[in-house]
Amino acid sequence: MREGYFISFEGGDGSGKSTQIQILREFLEERGYDVILTREPGGTPISEKIRSIILDKANSEMDDMTEALLYAAARAQLVSQIIRPALEEGKVVICDRFVDSSMAYQAYARGLGDSVKTINAFAVGDCMPDLTILLKVNPQVGSSRIGNRERDRIELASSDFHKKVYEGYLQLEKLYPERIVGIDAADTIENISGIISERIAGLLER
Ligand code: TYD
Repeated sequence: MREGYFISFEGGDGSGKSTQIQILREFLEERGYDVILTREPGGTPISEKIRSIILDKANSEMDDMTEALLYAAARAQLVSQIIRPALEEGKVVICDRFVDSSMAYQAYARGLGDSVKTINAFAVGDCMPDLTILLKVNPQVGSSRIGNRERDRIELASSDFHKKVYEGYLQLEKLYPERIVGIDAADTIENISGIISERIAGLLER
């Protein structure tokens, strides 16, 4: 039985997700909610190990299907160990990326298509977010925000790849309008957090 709320954040690399996640966490905690913050890929010791394999720049020979399965495997562990138990205890779970990332990066951008949906349905079952905040950033702007820090294997992919990721997210927004709230990440931090807290307040009232 699920009693809590599950909120995920999505966006291309450099969309300002972390800032908004911290602001939302404070917003919820001030209102007395028990908040569990987690991220993907990762969030459990096993999933963090899988994360380091996926993002390791040295793994340049990784097959696209292997990549998709590793993301789904890390996700299955996070759902069973952290997300599902927290929701059953009535907590609010905020997850930095979830299944939509695999749909944008692996299904659309890598071109693996519907098989990604199938393996993720197997990995998470009915444990899908109640609300997903999509911070939309033009991929060129996102890339420049990453700046000079060292890039991981996914961030090193071509600008064409990141353009496709962006297009994938726009398609997902159209496909799931009740769940996905798309926000222009070029707006100010205050305006974005205002939109997010309004939507979350609506969800919590239900
Ligand atoms: P991370 O450093 O967590 O990225 P960010 O700070 O942008 O959230 O690295 C995760 C990378 O993995 C990121 O480039 C997006 C990618 N990714 C996928 O390709 N598929 C997935 O299912 C997930 C969860 C992430």
